[in-house]
Amino acid sequence: YRDGGGSGGKMNPFAEQDAWEEHQIGKATVKFGSKDQKQSADNYEFVFEDQIDFIKASVMEGDKIEDEMLTESLEESKANFTLEKLKEERKTLPIYPYRDELLKAVRDHQVLIIVGETGSGKTTQIPQYLHEDGYTKVGKIGCTQPRRVAAMSVAARVSQEMGVKLGHEVGYSIRFEDCTSYKTVLKYMTDGMLLREFLGEPDLAGYSVIMVDEAHERTLSTDILFGLVKDVARFRPDLKLLISSATLDAEKFSDYFDSAPIFKIPGRRYPVEIHYTKAPEADYLDAAIVTALQIHVTQPPGDILVFLTGEEEIETAEEILKHRTRGLGTKIAELMICPIYANLPTDMQAKIFEPTPEGARKVVLATNIAETSLTIDGIKYVIDPGFCKMKSYNPHTGMESLLVTPISKASANQRAGRSGRTGPGKCFRLYTAYNYYHDLEDNTVPEIQRTNLVNVVLTLKSLGIHDLLNFDFMDPPPSEALLKALELLYALGALNKLGELTKVGRRMAEFPLDPMLSKMIVASDKYKCSEEIITIAAMLSIGNSIFYRPKDKQVHADTARMRFHEGNVGDHIALLKVYNDWKACDYGTMWCYENYVQVRSMRRARDIRDQLEGLLERVEIEPTSSLNDLEAIKKAITAGSLRMPSFCSLFLSFDELKDATSVNCLPDYLLTFAFATPASGFFPHSARLQKNASYGTVKHPQTVYLHPSSGLAQVEPLPRWVIYHELVLTTKEYMRQVTELKSEWLVEIAPHYYELKAVEDSGTKKVPKGKGHSAAT
Ligand code: CDP
Ligand code: MG
Repeated sequence: YRDGGGSGGKMNPFAEQDAWEEHQIGKATVKFGSKDQKQSADNYEFVFEDQIDFIKASVMEGDKIEDEMLTESLEESKANFTLEKLKEERKTLPIYPYRDELLKAVRDHQVLIIVGETGSGKTTQIPQYLHEDGYTKVGKIGCTQPRRVAAMSVAARVSQEMGVKLGHEVGYSIRFEDCTSYKTVLKYMTDGMLLREFLGEPDLAGYSVIMVDEAHERTLSTDILFGLVKDVARFRPDLKLLISSATLDAEKFSDYFDSAPIFKIPGRRYPVEIHYTKAPEADYLDAAIVTALQIHVTQPPGDILVFLTGEEEIETAEEILKHRTRGLGTKIAELMICPIYANLPTDMQAKIFEPTPEGARKVVLATNIAETSLTIDGIKYVIDPGFCKMKSYNPHTGMESLLVTPISKASANQRAGRSGRTGPGKCFRLYTAYNYYHDLEDNTVPEIQRTNLVNVVLTLKSLGIHDLLNFDFMDPPPSEALLKALELLYALGALNKLGELTKVGRRMAEFPLDPMLSKMIVASDKYKCSEEIITIAAMLSIGNSIFYRPKDKQVHADTARMRFHEGNVGDHIALLKVYNDWKACDYGTMWCYENYVQVRSMRRARDIRDQLEGLLERVEIEPTSSLNDLEAIKKAITAGSLRMPSFCSLFLSFDELKDATSVNCLPDYLLTFAFATPASGFFPHSARLQKNASYGTVKHPQTVYLHPSSGLAQVEPLPRWVIYHELVLTTKEYMRQVTELKSEWLVEIAPHYYELKAVEDSGTKKVPKGKGHSAAT
């Protein structure tokens, strides 16, 4: 396929119209094919249901009926108007003239690489075109997105364009949230969710088309999907595969997919003026805010897009901007501030797409999500500080961290391009031209080469893919990282010595959670507290947004929070108490207000918990509760982070352990030993008290502190050993969600110790550090 040229426009405009009309909900002619009789029947039901509701309402409210009829017909004509308008808008997208050509290419080839600039209509239009062309008669069309917000917002947009209810014909599926039904034929989902679908349906039988979108982002899940869909396509010649990307280096994708043809959608890009700073900026956040305000007061109309690195930074920027514009009062035009990041509540996400009112200017504060996943119309100015948050992983220590990192040249160019979509734009780079040309990498390193692979390895193993070193990766991960993941899974008991999935591993793979949390759930079976453990896992999955602390009521909020920590139970148990108290009050909103707890987060936790409960059943773990035995719960938590080192790298003596059991306590030096074994120790997320209330992590010696929000931070004396859920770096490196670890639990939690006798008998005692690799590979 050449550059597109100008052969568009020859199509019959009515062809699309017809397909479109047929699709309208409630029309008897919905052509879903014979297999889906049920679906068209249900479309009728859908209409009648509405009418029944309407009748019910009118019976109840007698004379209001006429009013309601009027509003209804008004609403209806408004909806029709919007639909008409959207239909027109669809025709103005750069992809539209190539509709027929594209459909022909899909017909002629099984795999197609599609390249087109952001905003050209790839994500929203291609699945609709394919639907109109009949592909949904034989299966669903799945379209993957690297980001949850993108999956949700694109699905919402497409359902609007098709005039159907979100979750019916058009739906989305993201972790812990499935907004689809049996009617769904266009399914937007995160790449991670499609990966999970392989577990239940390894041949993707329910799909006629898979579109791996935003392929240029090269997320971990997308990279794994490449290997899997390539394989499926080989034995399913009827499956169409589209790989779509916003960058022009499509050759690499084409090479990987056995020289698949490349379909280019010519973009419409206006010139963008690039401005650099003369000297590097010390504080890019402040520089970004000042630049935004300067644009606002000096530049002609047009919205501003600022790229920041994360939620906290965006909130800070929002606050400062509000403060400064308030200071300027009516001297300046109105500035609408619109934040957008992954955890932003759905109702607020919609705000960024609303048109800017006359006379005002919109400033969108976004994470990387606005780089290619989302298109916001009306942007004329881009402010690019040159940073993003990126995962990095040290395979040697096994530590993973999210770091603010300089972006690549490719990213910088994508960002700049966002300003030239609808007219000439300007991009303000808050770094020097020298920085750009000499310091920035050309391309971002694919995630697979800088991340912890434990989850991926577990998923691939449960898909029956054993030979991971020879898996068809587009860019293989460092083999050290792969080995590390295998070793860790072995240590967690998920793999046996031959590298095969164990029962524990199979159970763990069912949970869409960090392996540590999955292991904790699997371990709860033994301690008869699965009910409590899934609550804790759900609460930990929410992240850091359970409590809130209004500036004027900090003391009240802290007092309320500390009530859950009574008895110094540790943060995990405190989270459990929060949930159970809320549940005891009928999951009430009032209770949340009174306790300074975010109701939205709690609802989400409840949702996640429900799903985990369903998964318990699947892996045959009985729901059991031991609320009166907090120690059992803590043991399960600890067992969750237990990692048994490679069996021959351990040199604790069996007799020493036996002695320890008899006094029911391990001597401290033994514990230190256990932590310091070469293969990362038993409890990688653990730390030991040092002087000055600081702790030393064991795995990667580092000084860390109890987060001030931890209930244990106030305890006297501080616990000697703790395990933590995560490390966060703010002013210091803090441990968040911390529970005390009692040394006497170790022997009980780690019965594998006893198996060590055999190892020692065979003379492997005192293996030098680092030499003892497990056979897990
Ligand atoms: O995928 P690609 O970047 O090629 O474009 P798209 O996401 O399909 O977007 C096409 C157009 O749909 C954009 O110009 C947006 O104006 C519009 N759109 C929207 O208004 N709201 C969304 N949630 C997504 C897209
Ligand atoms: Mg897109």
